[in-house]
Amino acid sequence: MAQKKMSGEVFLPSKEVIEKAHVKNWDELNKRAQEDYEGFWAAEAEKLHWFKKWDKVLDESNKPFYKWFVGGTTNIAYNCLDVHLTTWRRNKLALFWEGENGDFKSYSYYYLHKYVCRFANILKSMGVGKGDRVTIYMGRVPELAFAMLACARLGAIHSVVFGGFSVEALHERLEDSKSKVLIVSDGSYVRGKVVDLKGIADEALARAATVEHVVVVKRTGHAVNMEPGRDYWYHELCALPMGNMGCEVEQLDAETPLFLLYTSGTTGKPKAILHTHGGYMVGTYASLKYVFDIREEDRYWCAADPGWITGHSYIVYGPLLTGVTSFMYEGAPTHPYPNRWWQLIEKYGINILYTAPTAIRGLMKYGDAWPQRHDLSSLRLLGTVGEPINPEAWKWYHRVIGRGKCPIMDTWWQTETGMFMITPMPCVPLKPGSGTRPFPGLIMDVVNEDGETVKPNEEGFLIIKRPWPAMMRTIYNDPERYVNQYWSRYPGYYLTGDSARRDEDGYYWIIGRVDDVIKVSGYRLGTAEIESALVSHTSVAEAAAIGLPHELKGNAIHCFVILKEGVEGTPQLADDLRKHVGHEVGPIAKPEHIDFVKSLPKTRSGKIMRRVLKAKALGIDPGNLSTLEE
Ligand code: PRX
Repeated sequence: MAQKKMSGEVFLPSKEVIEKAHVKNWDELNKRAQEDYEGFWAAEAEKLHWFKKWDKVLDESNKPFYKWFVGGTTNIAYNCLDVHLTTWRRNKLALFWEGENGDFKSYSYYYLHKYVCRFANILKSMGVGKGDRVTIYMGRVPELAFAMLACARLGAIHSVVFGGFSVEALHERLEDSKSKVLIVSDGSYVRGKVVDLKGIADEALARAATVEHVVVVKRTGHAVNMEPGRDYWYHELCALPMGNMGCEVEQLDAETPLFLLYTSGTTGKPKAILHTHGGYMVGTYASLKYVFDIREEDRYWCAADPGWITGHSYIVYGPLLTGVTSFMYEGAPTHPYPNRWWQLIEKYGINILYTAPTAIRGLMKYGDAWPQRHDLSSLRLLGTVGEPINPEAWKWYHRVIGRGKCPIMDTWWQTETGMFMITPMPCVPLKPGSGTRPFPGLIMDVVNEDGETVKPNEEGFLIIKRPWPAMMRTIYNDPERYVNQYWSRYPGYYLTGDSARRDEDGYYWIIGRVDDVIKVSGYRLGTAEIESALVSHTSVAEAAAIGLPHELKGNAIHCFVILKEGVEGTPQLADDLRKHVGHEVGPIAKPEHIDFVKSLPKTRSGKIMRRVLKAKALGIDPGNLSTLEE
């Protein structure tokens, strides 16, 4: 394909990649999608199963509460499993899994369907039905996917809480969602150690009141407390007659809630992002198929955690909707040695690997010899997500892991967007560090304070100017916050919370968050969560958290703490506080560093000026200080 001269360092797709790709000409597809946006999405929706077809593709009558595929009825779980059972895919491997300790499990589409139906029957017997909330708190195991799909089958709403979160984080999410049932694993393996998830859940349950039943999946087999009348072993329930393996699917209106996923926002408690069956299904299906160029024979591996949106959209739902074979791995990339991932790719013949910059940087640190010891020639495509990837890590990933042959899909998106928003496709010329352009049909922009498009290469706020099918529908229990946080700054447009620039070729370069969200190793944390965990410690009067650049993690958390009268700020206390945050929020939220201070910079209205703390820590100009109290 003839290319106009582009700026900067460009990696052109090979002829072979273009010839085999689903999408051979990105501009043509984008033109088509721009000109007939609803027609483009309707055509994708047609490829999925609807019990009743929609009357209207997009309903904009109550902005920003958009609706998609209005009047249609479907069920995402039916499209993930049942539709394949009448085709040859019935016997195809849907999911295979390796545990950190080498355990192995695999499920055909046929078998996975059975397991999901049985799990749905168990939930039904506990009174779970349409609209009920179920919280899922597990490590990276197949049962997590069964549980999600079982909820979807019944029209119940799942709320997965990342297994790396701890007591208060879980409690808050149970309470806000008013979950009836909690599904938990006894524990998970992380770097050879057992994390006592059931123990953490017990502590959280002691603080939360709504949970009636707990289903416990045995993974590690360590001793756990089982509360009679409340807690049930999953394997024992499976053996009961109610655990039979057929379960009628609920035919659901397209806008029926599918899941809540809590994520950190600008202020206060994490908010529950709500996604629905129809639009989310169409968005994740089409985006995965085109961007990762899914082929029938692929063995696809998204190495994220199912507890985050990446896992929801691109470990569980997207792959099953496309009918691909997907791999799940329980453990960390470098345990017991830095070749664990490379070993898995070689052993299982993985074709597509999707991971995060923090993992790439962490693996790169060990040098080229570890991956080079393995045959990685099965890899065809690579992906990255979660935070900006530095060009050095991009090039290492491309050269060493992709042997210079695998295009890298740098996908920018969010819990809120549900699907890839800025992303290349294999036929697109790549620039290391840029996610290239918006997915076909989308309209995005980079604007200044006044909402005017900034000049090429100038920094501004990243916004989305058109609704898309997999978009969040609201914040559960807080529609006002949905409107205020996302749609009020630039009325009619969605505010992403990121800053970015767009170069002369229309390629987007994400700079980072412009709010009080900190990305630590790609995980999204709010300053408010960390601060309230610190303040819940008996010694702390006030606290402020900021993110500072970190070579491997992207950002690391630094905290400033004012102690209560008479308490001395010793290194031991700093360590206790770090542990306390780990216990309440989770190990990923543990501050890297704690400074004991006498005061914090605040505005006259009492808001902590984190930007001033950050500037001071980095030794840079803090900018406008006119609102500073003292
Ligand atoms: O700042 C952006 C960053 O991650 C944020 C969304 O976080 P979360 O909702 O946890 O979802 C992460 C996985 C989809 C964004 O606002 N981000 C995500 N992907 C990229 C990114 N930053 C740069 N490049 C990316 N590819």
